[in-house]
Amino acid sequence: MTRIASSAIAPCLFASTLWLLSACNGPADAGGGEGGSTSSATSMGSAESSGGSASMTAGSSDGSGAADSSGGGIDRYHPLDFGMASVHGPALKLQAEDCRECHGADLAGGTSAVNCDSCHTPGWREDCVFCHGGTIDQTGAPPNDITDIDEVSMLSFIAHPKHVIEQDHPAYDCTQCHVKPTDVLSSNHIFDDTPAQGEVSFLMGLSEAGGYDGNGSCTTLYCHGNGRQDNGAYSHDMATPDCGGCHAYPGTANDDLTTMSGQHRRHMNEGAQCQDCHTDTVSGDTILTASLHVDGNKDVKLSGPASDMTWNAGAKSCSGTCHVGEAEGHNNEHW
Ligand code: HEC
Ligand code: HEC
Ligand code: HEC
Ligand code: HEC
Ligand code: HEC
Ligand code: HEC
Repeated sequence: MTRIASSAIAPCLFASTLWLLSACNGPADAGGGEGGSTSSATSMGSAESSGGSASMTAGSSDGSGAADSSGGGIDRYHPLDFGMASVHGPALKLQAEDCRECHGADLAGGTSAVNCDSCHTPGWREDCVFCHGGTIDQTGAPPNDITDIDEVSMLSFIAHPKHVIEQDHPAYDCTQCHVKPTDVLSSNHIFDDTPAQGEVSFLMGLSEAGGYDGNGSCTTLYCHGNGRQDNGAYSHDMATPDCGGCHAYPGTANDDLTTMSGQHRRHMNEGAQCQDCHTDTVSGDTILTASLHVDGNKDVKLSGPASDMTWNAGAKSCSGTCHVGEAEGHNNEHW
């Protein structure tokens, strides 16, 4: 999204409160913004001329209101530079206080009469990269974290890009690991009992039995498991797994084909290749169709020496004849 340059807000800092409000409402109006901006300026103006009673009342539980009112004789609740994104942004994201107390449950003004929509680019409430992510991809997934830290070793979950961008697996939606909010006010999103802490929930994803230790490590995952059980475990600072990282794979440290279902070992020992039976998913050692891999479905499609056969997933058996003309030709064996 297009952000208003910080210079648009800078003049506000050196101005009287009334001029501050009209200057700050400028960008939203120019950008075809909210109808509420004019009325918010007007009502703020009257709050000021009536002695700023709204802010005095609102700030009475917090010492900072009183401290500010000594600055230049202007009654203000927030510090003078609070209109800057770099000051009030972190206050929201780290939940220094509950903005809804004064700006309303809908953030449309409340007793402060300052509508959060009055300066922001329209659509900001649903814009996931307004507050987090937006540097590597536009999904909203960090980096950056809500602390604005983008130093990789400091991130709460280093492996976001590896999951939300397609690579040998589908581009996973946030729902795999979080309850996905739809906007700023979604329940359990920003305004919850755990300020500045992203919550993990696997319940809506492939790894619904997954466990999270709060420190980047997961257990009882389907996604890092062998495809037969929820037996995967992984930590976000580990390297990207190779083909034997989850299920057995010839030529890797994890080459015990007896850990795979049915007749895998027998067929592999007879020279079959993965692509003979998983034609749509792989070609050689390469994932051909990322959307089919680690998607919760065992995708079987036969080709090559088995091209005359059909896999019956319900009965877990094949029909047709394999290895036609060869001594070991067989069919219908239960997998
Ligand atoms: C206790 C009441 C109260 C709380 C809580 C509060 N505000 Fe305000 N806010 C006000 C008032 C009153 C104004 C009008 C200017 C003033 O008095 O500081 C205001 C103005 C603003 C402005 C306009 C710029 C400015 O400084 O005038 C921004 C931005 C803002 N608030 C952001 C926030 C954010 C973000 C939060 C939560 C982290 C928050 N406020 C919490 C009362 C509050
Ligand atoms: C005086 C104008 C003004 C008001 C009022 C205002 N903001 Fe902002 N805010 C900005 C500007 C400018 C930006 C930069 C992004 C943009 O231009 O849309 C910004 C950005 C933000 C960011 C992102 C900052 C970051 O570091 O990622 C958050 C969070 C935010 N505002 C919260 C709020 C909340 C909550 C309110 C209402 C309580 C509010 N703002 C009211 C001017 C304002
Ligand atoms: C105004 C800033 C802001 C916007 C816009 C925003 N978020 Fe968030 N988001 C946060 C903050 C702050 C947290 C930390 C949550 C907490 O304190 O519990 C968070 C946390 C999250 C989490 C971690 C799980 C959780 O709720 O704790 C997900 C997932 C998330 N946001 C997705 C989204 C999506 C998707 C969108 C767009 C529809 C979005 N966010 C828009 C500020 C924002
Ligand atoms: C593979 C699982 C996974 C997926 C998919 C995922 N996340 Fe996360 N996310 C996590 C984990 C784990 C954490 C770290 C929680 C913690 O320890 O605090 C986290 C933390 C977060 C946080 C808080 C970061 C902070 O500042 O601490 C946000 C915001 C977030 N995720 C947004 C998203 C969004 C948006 C998406 C979808 C585009 C997404 N995540 C997809 C696992 C995931
Ligand atoms: C992160 C764990 C993980 C890694 C790494 C992994 N796989 Fe898989 N793989 C799975 C799971 C789980 C399944 C079970 C079926 C599903 O959900 O798609 C699977 C299924 C398969 C299948 C069966 C066809 C299908 O779509 O179900 C083939 C073939 C396969 N993987 C090949 C590979 C190859 C080749 C690599 C290396 C490039 C690899 N896998 C790396 C987890 C992994
Ligand atoms: C002879 C055919 C055949 C070959 C060759 C084959 N598979 Fe499979 N694969 C299957 C069948 C059939 C299933 C079971 C589907 C079901 O249970 O619905 C399966 C299932 C899987 C699963 C899900 C977990 C499991 O063990 O059932 C994975 C992972 C997998 N295959 C990976 C591979 C990989 C990797 C290779 C090559 C190293 C390979 N397969 C070679 C036929 C084959």
